[in-house]
Amino acid sequence: MKTTILAIESSCDDTSAAVIHNGIVKSNCIASQKIHERYGGVVPELASRSHQQNIVPVVHQALSDAGTSISDIDAVACTVGPGLLGSLLVGVSFAKGFALAHECKLIGVNHLHAHVLASFIETETYKPPKPQFPFICLLVSGGNTQIILAHDYNRMEIIGATIDDAAGEAFDKCAKLLGLPYPGGPHIDRLAQQGNPYAFAFNKPQIAGYDYSFSGFKTSVLYFLQKEIAKNPDFIQQNLSDLCASIQHCIVEMLMHKLRKAVKKTGVKHLTIGGGVAANSGLRNTIQAFGEQNAIATYLPPLVYTTDNAAMIAVAAYHKYIEKRVCSQTMKPQARYSLDKYFREFDN
Ligand code: KG4
Repeated sequence: MKTTILAIESSCDDTSAAVIHNGIVKSNCIASQKIHERYGGVVPELASRSHQQNIVPVVHQALSDAGTSISDIDAVACTVGPGLLGSLLVGVSFAKGFALAHECKLIGVNHLHAHVLASFIETETYKPPKPQFPFICLLVSGGNTQIILAHDYNRMEIIGATIDDAAGEAFDKCAKLLGLPYPGGPHIDRLAQQGNPYAFAFNKPQIAGYDYSFSGFKTSVLYFLQKEIAKNPDFIQQNLSDLCASIQHCIVEMLMHKLRKAVKKTGVKHLTIGGGVAANSGLRNTIQAFGEQNAIATYLPPLVYTTDNAAMIAVAAYHKYIEKRVCSQTMKPQARYSLDKYFREFDN
């Protein structure tokens, strides 16, 4: 279907805009907010304010990179949730205003829906092989950890999810205990490359079914460090790489344990990953090896498309547009917005 869509992502601390033309992503601009580093986590009020400052320049850049003028736009899409309410509000308000002012269609996209479809992002120069339905997506970010079964572009179900912390939070909280800067996931990943993943063992919570729990694991790391530091105050400095490698190994093993079970139960032959933690080298290597050993095709999108970005919102919006699933001006941001609820609303 011939169409040009402007897409906006503002669910957390990245302001991003993209243009998609006939299913091909023409531009994808991202303004990341560095301000949160000094606070050791995302400060919602500062994130919202930064989105307000960034959104107009980022949209201008996306239109200009795509060589698209406003009059070419058939629809404007934005993330409606889940995410930080003040952050979502900026993108949703902008999109609603844009749709009114330029008389184009409005499309609300669930952030998780978009992460699952990141493997379908295609540009003029980047045309990767695509997963076939049904496939499983392991969605692992700072705010979400879910195993999602995708039956179709617009039909997905959650078969497992964290009951407490997300995998990214587990990385970040453990990194904080080790005195590493925020966000700690990439630092643990980097230091883990020189460490022994079997040096230390931590408690892995046993949760029934396909769900995850990471809060008990983080507490186990905390108690272990307290005990060791009481004996040797320099324990962390002397064992930093081994600690990072062991923590990473444990988190990856916890993620893989449920993922293997889910792949076996559903019988899917295609597997993708999404979310910031999908950048983790240990996780990427383990998923790739799992795929090779079990004849499962794995799709690991480049990092720019696994973290928060508007290109994935654009792809999800394109598939909603094709099915004429557009929204009205009553569309509201939803801080908590499960995929189940989103697809239920779709079907009404
Ligand atoms: O999807 P994302 O960019 O945004 C939010 O969820 O807000 O994910 C951010 C998360 C952070 O927890 C960060 O530490 C983690 O992704 N992360 C990583 C790596 N790169 C980013 N975790 C482990 N290893 C990495 N290489």
